[in-house]
Amino acid sequence: MEASTRVSAIGRAYSRLAYNADYENIDLVAYLREVVEDLKPAVAPCEIQLETPKEIQFAADRAILVALIVNELILNAGRHAYPDASKGMIRLQLILSDDKAVSISVSDDGVGLPSDFNPALSKRLGTRIALGLAGQLGGELTRQASTRGTHFTLVVPLDAAVN
Ligand SMILES: Nc1ncnc2c1ncn2[C@@H]1O[C@H](COP(=O)(O)OP(=O)(O)OP(=O)(O)O)[C@@H](O)[C@H]1O
Ligand SMILES: [Mg+2]
Repeated sequence: MEASTRVSAIGRAYSRLAYNADYENIDLVAYLREVVEDLKPAVAPCEIQLETPKEIQFAADRAILVALIVNELILNAGRHAYPDASKGMIRLQLILSDDKAVSISVSDDGVGLPSDFNPALSKRLGTRIALGLAGQLGGELTRQASTRGTHFTLVVPLDAAVN
């Protein structure tokens, strides 16, 4: 199920492109909304809450990388944050910081990362995908210190040419 969410995140982008007159850009908000819909069964009984602006025009090829990162972070929250299959909230928040970047954060109120966890040294696939793709986007994936749970933020330039 987890592998299939990775694939369907890519498929969703292609189907958006197919009925969009503008072949280079897609609405990142609408696209991530679909990606989140696809993730719901994989993270059940957790719920995903979305907070986004109305629309963010974004290059389609870069949107796919964003979606793959979001996919890993949400799957992680569903899988690791709330043990014993307990129900919890996973938040996805998109904020346009200015006209140059979008900040995308995934957070939960769960058990938190292991205290010795260093994403840069992790050998697990999810973390490596997320960090690698963030670099490819010219963005930055950071972890917010939080009293409860886990909070990751990906900041990505809106325009690839800016970086
Ligand atoms: N939201 C979270 N809450 C608690 N622990 C987390 C969270 N996200 C990640 N972790 C911890 O970080 C580890 C690394 O995550 P990572 O996604 O790299 O690997 P994974 O989920 O174990 O496996 P996969 O490669 O299939 O993603 C997890 O095994 C888990 O212990
Ligand atoms: Mg993972």
